[in-house]
Amino acid sequence: MNNQPIGIFDSGIGGTSIWKEIAIALPNENTIYLADSKYAPYGKRSKEEIIALSIKNTKKLLELNCKIIVVACNTATTNAIKVLRDQFDIPFIGIEPAIKPAALNTKTRKVGVLATKGTLSSELFAKTSDLYATKIEVIEVIGTGLVELIEEGKIHTSEMFALLTSYVQPLIEQNIDYLVLGCSHYPYLIPILRKMVPDNIIIIDSGEAVARQTKVILSEKEILKQDYQEGSHIFFTNGELQILRDILKKSNIPTSSELLEF
Ligand code: DGL
Repeated sequence: MNNQPIGIFDSGIGGTSIWKEIAIALPNENTIYLADSKYAPYGKRSKEEIIALSIKNTKKLLELNCKIIVVACNTATTNAIKVLRDQFDIPFIGIEPAIKPAALNTKTRKVGVLATKGTLSSELFAKTSDLYATKIEVIEVIGTGLVELIEEGKIHTSEMFALLTSYVQPLIEQNIDYLVLGCSHYPYLIPILRKMVPDNIIIIDSGEAVARQTKVILSEKEILKQDYQEGSHIFFTNGELQILRDILKKSNIPTSSELLEF
């Protein structure tokens, strides 16, 4: 039994898509979320920089008394989670592109993966791909500029539509039947993507799987919160507070959010 909060961080507001799944799966848990928007996008940074930023965020979440840390960022997970696990004595949950379910279920044997450069060029992504995608073709696309537009609050804009079309249209033409969203910002693009891709293309992200895994680890470590009081959800950003608040409104879950230097 443990009433300390679950700590979650991302390079910005995108990981709120993962937070939401956690809040739904574990409604009585308290959460603290760090949006490191000041340093977004991580996807363009070197591995060393991503590791340093992930350590900075972890230290802040430990200061805030978290009992487990969810790295709600594919780029940070694929580049830094090993170092974090070596360096800190607290459980970490990471997020990786959901290659496995796509590879196991594809009928056209072609799967598209949209992710950041940092994720697609990481060793961990290469390992996961090699493991599950041996007999299928994985077509990787770097979503350059998508995180920036989301961080600027420009989701439903013509600029976003045009950029997304330029990434997705070639995948449709190559006959993919799974589109894996390998960045925690991208679930916010699903309503636009659904209008863009034919119905036979299944769009998957890793949010629910991360929430399930968080629940399993909390239970295994016997650190689940035991009372049935609804959890509180506190958000800190070092970027634009209003943009974070606008995205949180979509969740319909009560939250509080404020600016913080970290
Ligand atoms: N949400 C991060 C991810 O899942 C975005 C990375 C970035 O900041 O470029 O990869």
